Amino acid sequence: MLVFLLHFSSTMQLKWQTVCFFLCIYGMDVVFCQARYSIPEEMPEGSFVGNIAKDLGIEISRLISGKARVVTKGGRQYVELSRDKGALVVKERIDREELCKQTTPCSFSFDLIIENPIQLHRITVEVQDINDNAPIFPKGAVNLEISENRLSGARFPLDSAVDMDVGINGIQSYALSPTDNFKLEINSQSDGSKHVEMVLQRELDREEHDELYLVLIAADGGSPRKSGTVRIHVTVLDVNDNAPVCKQAVYKIDVMENSPVGTVLTTVNAVDADEGINGDISYSIAQASKEAREMFDIDSDTGDITMIKMVDYEIERSYSLNIKAKDKGSLSDTCKVIIDVVDVNDNPPTIQLMSFSNTIAENSPVGTTVAVINVEDADSGQNGVVQCKINEHIPFKIESSLTDYYALVTDEILDRENIAEYNITILVSDQGSPALHSNKTLTVKISDVNDNAPVFSSDQFRTFITENNSPGVAVLTVKAGDADWGPNARLSYFLEDSDVMGHPVSSLVSINSDSGVINAVRSFDYEQMKSLTFNVTARDGGSPPLSSEVMVTISVQDQNDNAPQVLYPVQTGVSVVAEIVPRSADVGYLVTKVVAVDVDSGQNAWLSYKLQKATDRALFEVGPQNGEIRTVRQVTDKDAVKQKLTVVVEDNGQPSRSAVVNINVAVADSFPEVVSEFSDFTLSKEYNDNLTFYLVLALAAVSFLLITTVVVIISVKIYRWRQSRIFYQSSLPVIPYYPPGYADTGVTGTLPHMYNYDVCMTTNSRKSDCKYSTLGGQSVLVVDQSFSETLQRAMKEKEFLENAESPEMVEIQIRNFKNVLLTDEMSKLFFK
Ligand SMILES: *[C@@H]1O[C@H](CO)[C@@H](O)[C@H](O)[C@H]1NC(C)=O
Repeated sequence: MLVFLLHFSSTMQLKWQTVCFFLCIYGMDVVFCQARYSIPEEMPEGSFVGNIAKDLGIEISRLISGKARVVTKGGRQYVELSRDKGALVVKERIDREELCKQTTPCSFSFDLIIENPIQLHRITVEVQDINDNAPIFPKGAVNLEISENRLSGARFPLDSAVDMDVGINGIQSYALSPTDNFKLEINSQSDGSKHVEMVLQRELDREEHDELYLVLIAADGGSPRKSGTVRIHVTVLDVNDNAPVCKQAVYKIDVMENSPVGTVLTTVNAVDADEGINGDISYSIAQASKEAREMFDIDSDTGDITMIKMVDYEIERSYSLNIKAKDKGSLSDTCKVIIDVVDVNDNPPTIQLMSFSNTIAENSPVGTTVAVINVEDADSGQNGVVQCKINEHIPFKIESSLTDYYALVTDEILDRENIAEYNITILVSDQGSPALHSNKTLTVKISDVNDNAPVFSSDQFRTFITENNSPGVAVLTVKAGDADWGPNARLSYFLEDSDVMGHPVSSLVSINSDSGVINAVRSFDYEQMKSLTFNVTARDGGSPPLSSEVMVTISVQDQNDNAPQVLYPVQTGVSVVAEIVPRSADVGYLVTKVVAVDVDSGQNAWLSYKLQKATDRALFEVGPQNGEIRTVRQVTDKDAVKQKLTVVVEDNGQPSRSAVVNINVAVADSFPEVVSEFSDFTLSKEYNDNLTFYLVLALAAVSFLLITTVVVIISVKIYRWRQSRIFYQSSLPVIPYYPPGYADTGVTGTLPHMYNYDVCMTTNSRKSDCKYSTLGGQSVLVVDQSFSETLQRAMKEKEFLENAESPEMVEIQIRNFKNVLLTDEMSKLFFK
């Protein structure tokens, strides 16, 4: 057997080097050659593989005749024989990677069969790798999460790339970019594969880069070189490696003290470079006074510092808080918050009474302290500077004694009677803006001092009381006031001891010491006492008491309680007196004059005369005012000797009282005629026989006495008339009345028109200490006939009462009255 082993290199125009081995085994009649070619993969169809004819030394014709053909056992036939060229050409694309995977070398074999004679040649074609595959990473991208706290040297295996090509066309190198933090380490495994690892060579910092983008490049050794890349995304996982940091180390805040609760004062801010919970900061008050903790709160999430209680400058002026900012990873920072409270004028000044006397005596000296007050203001600065004032126009002032202390003192003498109470308003205000005020009102009462005497409502009291009053009747009320108060103004009334016309005043009137009501003690009689004057004292209850006096005059008013009294003609009831009218009497002859008195006064004593009955009404008339009875016509012989007249004397009181007087008139020329005529009178039915004798006797005695008296009077009158004729002349003849027992001289027939009554009167008729005025006395009063002089007379009475030399004796001179009015006592005396 002969074996050739040929090896040659064709110099074909193929780019690809074709290597051909020959091995021919010559057997009995079968030639068995082996040829071997080498071609690159991925040759286009028809590409020349080898000149088999030449290489095997076979004629092309033999190829044709022998029907040379390629026989592939199973699989695909990549190569076919071009008989006419005697060459093998690529029939189908050959993909080494498909054919052999990673096996190398890679070849396929086929047989070339030539018939006639049969020849069998085994041909092996080795497929050479070309770099037609780039390295490929199994995943398009790699995501890695690496905690930032991994230390350098930490390894992170990566998937290696795959290159279908083999050999030099396989992966030759890896490269990583960038390589700031990582480097690549490639370890070849025992199976030849490569283990790619990323090794941390510089530690990661999430806070610097929280993500890294790297590219891993795998490159083969082919020419041209192919490479594959994979993106590596590294997420740096945070580690709480950063503590929070406060933005400011110290926060300084001013807060107005009246800021409302809930005010956010500031926000503490800390930052943490970490993320997530590592950067989640919570704030808390780390260190603060108890007061500050009660006052402020911090929002643990936002860092807002809120006021939870009103700050008060007057309590605390500054607070400091240490705020801790802490992340969840328990790293922390501390900052300081200083809160300064700013004073606001929020405190009104206060007034405190340190001492106060609410009552002060009205005689307190100027400068008496009423109250001591303390004024304070909790604010500071101008807000705490206080001024103190009181209301104006009051007699008080405020004095500053010590700082913050004031004294309220009197500034004038007080007078309770003027103002008894003061409301003193103390007003304090501070200097803040706006200023705050406070006030306090003190009521100061002025206590009474007995400095005012009682004052009567009138400087004198006068009243009237009608006589015959019932005893005990209230006459008058005196009233006094006292400007003082309480007991100092409680008044009592007293009568001052005195005598009124000889009576102690207390026997006449009494006074109610409380009410001042003056009562009559007894019934008054105007005819005895026309008025009484006394003094009343009012005394207050002070200590010492003060008193004052007032004069009280009570005038007694007349009542018509006395009827007129006829003085002449005397109405004895038993005597018969007759006026004689000569028959020769002319018209207007004055027969007589009715003389009556009324002890009352005024109207009550104003008398009028009326002829009530007459034997012959046509003969006489009565002067209605003077009581003169005159003839009205010539007396004739026919007229009866005996004429009887009844005259009524009436006073003007209400009701009026009256008296009746009977007058006998004898119209005769001689006395015997009268006597004979008047025997009838004496023997009137009213008298019994015994009486008659006495009457005649009395008449005779009276007539005698009368004649004697007339003679005496006339002689005296003549004497007087000579002295006093200058005063009065009258043409009318008047018959005067001379009371019995009265001795006077006069001139009969020519009666003077002047009557002279000398009246003696004592207050007590028993003690008749009487003095008669001398005739032709110094005081001679001539009065006109008019009756209107009654009132004047009352005055004169008063005058002479006042001029009386002794209260025991009063001398009255009344001259020339047509009507003579005498008191009861006078008349008694007069006619005794
Ligand atoms: C003082 O004040 C009181 C209470 O307000 C009042 O009743 C009184 O009349 C006042 N007095 C004076 C003198 O104003």
